[in-house]
Amino acid sequence: MVSFKTAFVAAIQLAAVTALDISVESSGGNYTGGYHYGFLHEDINNSGDGGIYAELVRNRAFQYSDSYPVSLDGWRSINSANLTLNRLAEPLSDVLPVSVNVKASKKSGKRRVGIQNEGYWGIDVKRHTYTGSFWVRGAYKGYFTAELRSNFTSDVFGSVKVKSHAKANDWVEHEFELLPTKNAPSSNNTFAITFDPKGASSGSLDFNLISLFPPTYKNRKNGLRKDIAEALEELHPSILRFPGGNMLEGLTHSSYWNWKDSLGPLRTRPGFEGVWNYQQTHGLGLLEYLYWAEDMGLDIVIGIYAGLSLDGEVTPEADFQAIIDEGLDEIEFIRGSVDTKWGAVRAELGHPEPFALNYVEIGNEDWLAGYPGGWSSYKAYRLPLFVEAINNAYDDITIIASGATTDGDGFDIPTPVIGDYHPYRSADALVEEFDRFDNDVGHIVGEVAATHPNGGSGWNGDLMPFPVWIGAVGESISLIGYERNADHVPGTFYAPVLRNMNKWQWAVTILQFAADTAMTTRSTSWYVWELFAKYPITRVLPATAEFDPVFYVAGSNEDLGTLVWKGAVYNTTNNAAVPITVAFEGVEAGTKAELTVLTNNGEDDYAYNDPHTGVNVVDSTTTVLEANDDGVFEFELPELSVAVLAATVESVTKARRSRGLRIAE
Ligand code: AHR
Repeated sequence: MVSFKTAFVAAIQLAAVTALDISVESSGGNYTGGYHYGFLHEDINNSGDGGIYAELVRNRAFQYSDSYPVSLDGWRSINSANLTLNRLAEPLSDVLPVSVNVKASKKSGKRRVGIQNEGYWGIDVKRHTYTGSFWVRGAYKGYFTAELRSNFTSDVFGSVKVKSHAKANDWVEHEFELLPTKNAPSSNNTFAITFDPKGASSGSLDFNLISLFPPTYKNRKNGLRKDIAEALEELHPSILRFPGGNMLEGLTHSSYWNWKDSLGPLRTRPGFEGVWNYQQTHGLGLLEYLYWAEDMGLDIVIGIYAGLSLDGEVTPEADFQAIIDEGLDEIEFIRGSVDTKWGAVRAELGHPEPFALNYVEIGNEDWLAGYPGGWSSYKAYRLPLFVEAINNAYDDITIIASGATTDGDGFDIPTPVIGDYHPYRSADALVEEFDRFDNDVGHIVGEVAATHPNGGSGWNGDLMPFPVWIGAVGESISLIGYERNADHVPGTFYAPVLRNMNKWQWAVTILQFAADTAMTTRSTSWYVWELFAKYPITRVLPATAEFDPVFYVAGSNEDLGTLVWKGAVYNTTNNAAVPITVAFEGVEAGTKAELTVLTNNGEDDYAYNDPHTGVNVVDSTTTVLEANDDGVFEFELPELSVAVLAATVESVTKARRSRGLRIAE
């Protein structure tokens, strides 16, 4: 048998651009309830702190870890005040033991003194209400000011007086709202708190946990940055995988993402060192992720820590029960009733209703760190013991193993567990793998992105600066390959999803942003994923299977009464456009369909959407087609294009079955 890979190579040399006639049957195929397009979020690229987590104050509680010593990073004094970091005998909390003392100096004179924070490389100031708080220790009669100021002029865009309730021997929280009188012309601003040192009986005050939020997505307290969350919501996602990724694993056994540390009031969250070169706050905690999913209507795949960290150390079998118990507690926290121990904790935190949780992934990429010991221990006891424990407690959870059949030294995934595949590839390589799942067992594609230029595969310098157009087309072809196999590949996740342009570790992300909300940039990939997710197929229908240079999947949506064809064109002879006909069985002459085509509006296949220039290289055109006398839709697609043809057709059975991430009936 000629493998697809061989055929692909040959096709690059030989394919002639002839018309492609595609017939789609009206029944059969697989009912899947709807394919899941989603993304992985972990805090990489300051995509959590300084990203989708809307907190504007950087280093708000002087948190630290083994890797990152406590510091005044992000902070400056106002009017020559002396700033000193202290570990007071009575700290704000056990987990936030460091606070800052602010004291007037001789140079301060009679002026008010204070501290200011430069945010996550700037603060966006608009005429909307900010909510803030700070904790103070020390007797003070007078008022504080909370202000949003320009970082390089004397402009103050908004200021509020906050009456002091501060006490000599106690930490007192002060809350305020701040409505700027005007928009700032740039994000080069700071957030400042001042007080009058004459009113402070000891001449100084101690501060900790200084926080400021703009209006958030769905107005959640401690919530998500609105513009970023909305740009993700516009992708029509239906599933969220979190919290990693490598972040879940942590650098060592004492620094993985421990969900218990991420619950409750902010003063009880210690923060941790993450794995992506910066201290993290734990502000975007388990409950915040669950609200994110709930507010966007997403299913979730929760990654459970499985006793392997990036240093390769593995929890021995004799000690593994503690890891399992922690995972089971986490599941109970998410979906247990209020009568359970952890369900009751969730209720106390404000959400008595259990969250939906149908998919649990055990670990992350266990075939990688500490190979071969990490992988062999995963196969020998870490995965089986987890599977047994989860199956004993829940009969409706799909368990996902953190590797694919082709990972490490191979993996016989124990049914009914499904695997997880992570192709970070060039466009060519993604296209080559179009049939990757045609004859394989169940997997999710838990992370995918076109990260490399064609011909490149290394990780040192050999990476794209942003998602490029040819890469987005490559991704679209892999998405088509996955959706064709939706009966056993129920969902695909772009990763990593976000990148702060001021500090990042991984360039290729579906959305870029900075403090300035005008920088939020939908990448080339964003347009492709948005288009495909906008047209959900609930039943993949049998169709002509003649691929290259056109790749496609066809199906119906029995809830919406639509027929859908998704296609992409890659590597045509002489870059010529391809004439295509699509004949959906039963469609009558004159039936109307919308054809949306995405193309690159320039010459450069490697063009990208640039947050600095605001250039968008993706063109989107939608035309209405009419089926010809034979009920066939005729159109032409250019080289390196991505398209969806969708028709609303009454004959499509409105089965009205609920959507869900399910393996075929
Ligand atoms: O998405 C970035 C990283 O790539 C993830 O943390 C990890 O799972 C993968 O190797």
